[in-house]
Amino acid sequence: MNAPAVTLHVFCSAKGGVGKSTLSVACARLLAQSGRQCVLIDADLTGTSLADGLSLCAPIVERDDQGRLDFFARPTGKFMTREETIKARNSRKFQEWSGRPPAPPFFNDLLLQGERGAECTVEALWWKHEQDDGLRVLPSSPLTQDIAIALGWLREEPFEWLQRFMWLLQGMREQLPALSDVVIDLPPGLFGFAHETLALLSNLKLGKPFPSGFPDLRAEEWRGQPFIVTTEDRNDFILALEYYVAHKAKLPHLKIVLNRATEGRSAWFSGELVRHFGSGLRLEAIPLIRVDELKPLRELFVSGRLHMNEDIKQLRMQLLGGDDAHRP
Ligand SMILES: Nc1ncnc2c1ncn2[C@@H]1O[C@H](COP(=O)(O)OP(=O)(O)OP(=O)(O)O)[C@@H](O)[C@H]1O
Ligand SMILES: [Mg+2]
Repeated sequence: MNAPAVTLHVFCSAKGGVGKSTLSVACARLLAQSGRQCVLIDADLTGTSLADGLSLCAPIVERDDQGRLDFFARPTGKFMTREETIKARNSRKFQEWSGRPPAPPFFNDLLLQGERGAECTVEALWWKHEQDDGLRVLPSSPLTQDIAIALGWLREEPFEWLQRFMWLLQGMREQLPALSDVVIDLPPGLFGFAHETLALLSNLKLGKPFPSGFPDLRAEEWRGQPFIVTTEDRNDFILALEYYVAHKAKLPHLKIVLNRATEGRSAWFSGELVRHFGSGLRLEAIPLIRVDELKPLRELFVSGRLHMNEDIKQLRMQLLGGDDAHRP
């Protein structure tokens, strides 16, 4: 029997600070808590790393005789404590290296290994939360030198990002036959590698082939769910909706998340849409998910679990498409 399709839940936004990471973490936690095999990829390489925000513990990875990480070794199954993780993170800050990086392993390293990323033993590299809730996380690096390398390279080569990223996804699926979901937290902005990642979801949805040199991700093995997170800030939702209008045909499954929505602002929001887009874009026609200001979401970065109150049940239905849809 073929392995079931893996769903890629992708969170992006026009503006920064609108809730992508919060909703990515919530989505990944909800999946992990219902027994799904989920990996959260912190693909925001601009520096706001989940490694620092989420109380994550780094994996203990085999090293060579110079103390450099071996990304191709078998998993040790062991993790550092939170204190050891912070110590390793801080000591990496002061190390000069080329080739294999020092501990701890970040998502940046996996990408920068080039096509060999597909061969990295992903199983050996993910991090977990201090209060382990079954979620696997590949966090980006918060260290200035890593950010500078990644951003220089990504700005020049967003297409190559996609190629390497796809090899990595392909490798993950091969190494983890039970993998069911990958949640991807993208950097702010709907250009560069955020746009490339949405192009990946578009190709999958429309059954279009990938260019040569790319792995052949097949629509029956991979499913995409793109979300653009926005707020009631006019500068934000106008850009998000312009992207939606321009890409509707290529991304028919794109959903807009209006985050931290305030009660009673629907009429104002509808009015703004008419003002900017004319009567051609009706509020009812937009696949809009309204997420209220939710206290449990603020607590996500402190506690390891999401407490299942009515708000969170509602959020699960909205993001994941049904109360029982993602039970094992
Ligand atoms: N629905 C919500 N209810 C309550 N707090 C929220 C909600 N959504 C986001 N927040 C809070 O808003 C802040 C910004 O959210 P977050 O860091 O997820 O944004 P982001 O889009 O990932 O930012 P960046 O672009 O910097 O990566 C956080 O403090 C988060 O706790
Ligand atoms: Mg973020």
